[in-house]
Amino acid sequence: MILVAEGIRPGAKQLTKEITDFVGGEAVKPFLLLLVLAVVGCASTQSPRVADSSARGRWAGKTVVITGASSGIGRGAAVEFGRQGANVVLAARRTNLLEEVAGEVRARGGTPLVITTDVSKAGDIERLAQAAVRRFGRIDVWINNAGLGVVGPFWDAPVADYSRLIDINLKGVVYGSHAAVRQFRAQGGGTLVNVGSVVSEVPVAYYACYSATKAGVLSLDRALNEELRLNRLTGNIKVATIMPWAVDTPWWKHAANYSGHTPRMLALDDPSKVVNAIVNTAEHPSKEVPVGWKAQGAYISHRIAPDITETISGNIVQREQMEKGASAPVTTGSLYRPIQAGRFVEGGQREEMKREDQQRRLPAPPEGPGSQ
Ligand SMILES: NC(=O)c1ccc[n+]([C@@H]2O[C@H](COP(=O)([O-])OP(=O)(O)OC[C@H]3O[C@@H](n4cnc5c(N)ncnc54)[C@H](OP(=O)(O)O)[C@@H]3O)[C@@H](O)[C@H]2O)c1
Repeated sequence: MILVAEGIRPGAKQLTKEITDFVGGEAVKPFLLLLVLAVVGCASTQSPRVADSSARGRWAGKTVVITGASSGIGRGAAVEFGRQGANVVLAARRTNLLEEVAGEVRARGGTPLVITTDVSKAGDIERLAQAAVRRFGRIDVWINNAGLGVVGPFWDAPVADYSRLIDINLKGVVYGSHAAVRQFRAQGGGTLVNVGSVVSEVPVAYYACYSATKAGVLSLDRALNEELRLNRLTGNIKVATIMPWAVDTPWWKHAANYSGHTPRMLALDDPSKVVNAIVNTAEHPSKEVPVGWKAQGAYISHRIAPDITETISGNIVQREQMEKGASAPVTTGSLYRPIQAGRFVEGGQREEMKREDQQRRLPAPPEGPGSQ
């Protein structure tokens, strides 16, 4: 897989235009200036590290556990760690796809281990940790990446779906973090990487319960970092939260959807950007990692002006998801059982949205003689 890091230093002028397009309103101009400054300032202090051929072998002999490794970001990260020589423990529900990923890891020089896992089951996570240690002797990095979504008006989805979402997105991360930190303490160190989202910091409309689970992940990590500090363990045990913007992975096909429209979001990122961020964070841990300029801008602006940032984010989702999307039936996605659709790292979502946009812009067919 070729990983290309997106340039994160767009000119301030272009950035202003993109953000103005985002929000499309005069009233927020002073805020935009603030946001642009925050983003450009932030972008100029962070250089993306690009995974390159010199990285080959860098992870040789190290063991990395990845949940949600069957598709999307987790699959991309698994293959990249494999390319860098790691022992990669692959966890998810679709065993057939994990076997496929294991083949890719092996072909690139890594050593895979497939453990079929439902992260919502504490017993499965315990089994995963034990299998990794039994096979490789220790766990250097544990990545809690498995996660799904429920999209639509909060009151339209059944509470059973929210309960299941919390089981996977939050309880799954608690179980994984618990297993990882206990193992790190026993072996004298390790790095825990939890995949949150930009919505860990900025809750968004029509993703209420999803936002709550991802805020829970960030909160867990912040508290955990404090506990490690109080117990003088921060030297050896690192905890990081990855916060991507919306990404073009199969996530959109796997999410439960009660919005009445095809799932959409503005300006999806390429998954390689998040894969790079995860691999780099595993090597050079830092506590909170908003990925790319959009997530960084939203993260910073929410710290400065939370209310207006939430209003703008809500308006974006209202327009993109609830107004622009074509009609779509209700689905529970892969919440209760895995679905085979959405097998790769990329989801093809950007292409689908482009097609939908072109369709919407087509002029209405002329009225024929027979039409009334
Ligand atoms: N795509 C985005 O826009 C975006 C943005 C911000 C954050 N994120 C987060 O990034 C993470 C990865 O998502 P993605 O974008 O790569 O989407 P994805 O392709 O749908 O990946 C989700 C992964 O989680 C696994 N999974 C789901 N439920 C599971 C369960 N109960 N037990 C074990 N594994 C389970 C899936 O595999 P199986 O179905 O085989 O179990 C799949 O491998 C998620 O936490 C997501 O919330 C995504």
